[in-house]
Amino acid sequence: MDSPRIIQLPKIPDSRGNLSVIEECVHIPFKIMRAYWIYDVPGGECRGGHAYKTTEEFIVALSGSFDVVLDNGHEKQSFSLSRSYCGLYVPKGYWRQMVNFSTNSLAFVLASTPYDEDDYIRDYSEFMRCR
Ligand code: TYD
Repeated sequence: MDSPRIIQLPKIPDSRGNLSVIEECVHIPFKIMRAYWIYDVPGGECRGGHAYKTTEEFIVALSGSFDVVLDNGHEKQSFSLSRSYCGLYVPKGYWRQMVNFSTNSLAFVLASTPYDEDDYIRDYSEFMRCR
């Protein structure tokens, strides 16, 4: 099983404003099939609460901050994201939750598959049975 990890992206500093970039299969280990973003999250709300059978993701806090909690069925790991030049690589098969969203946070997610509800495991006991 591949491991979740924080990946630091290129940052091109500039007095006019910094620039960062993501190229598929260069900075992240998959081809990008989809991008989506999560925003206007009310205080105290939590997103996620599911696993994917095949989808890999790369999550960046483009604005603000939040935590991503990953569970492999044996242990949980929490990753704090707050920099727009760092992201979290999430392999398939992890139960994931996104919590502690700051005001005005923007979570940008790149995914390795098109959207497919059949790729979700939304029931935690089913997730544990699949381990
Ligand atoms: P979901 O992935 O469950 O959100 P989260 O994990 O952040 O809580 O998706 C929420 C809803 O949005 C669900 O009805 C499916 C829909 N959706 C799409 O239509 N396309 C997508 O690419 C994604 C990620 C979700």
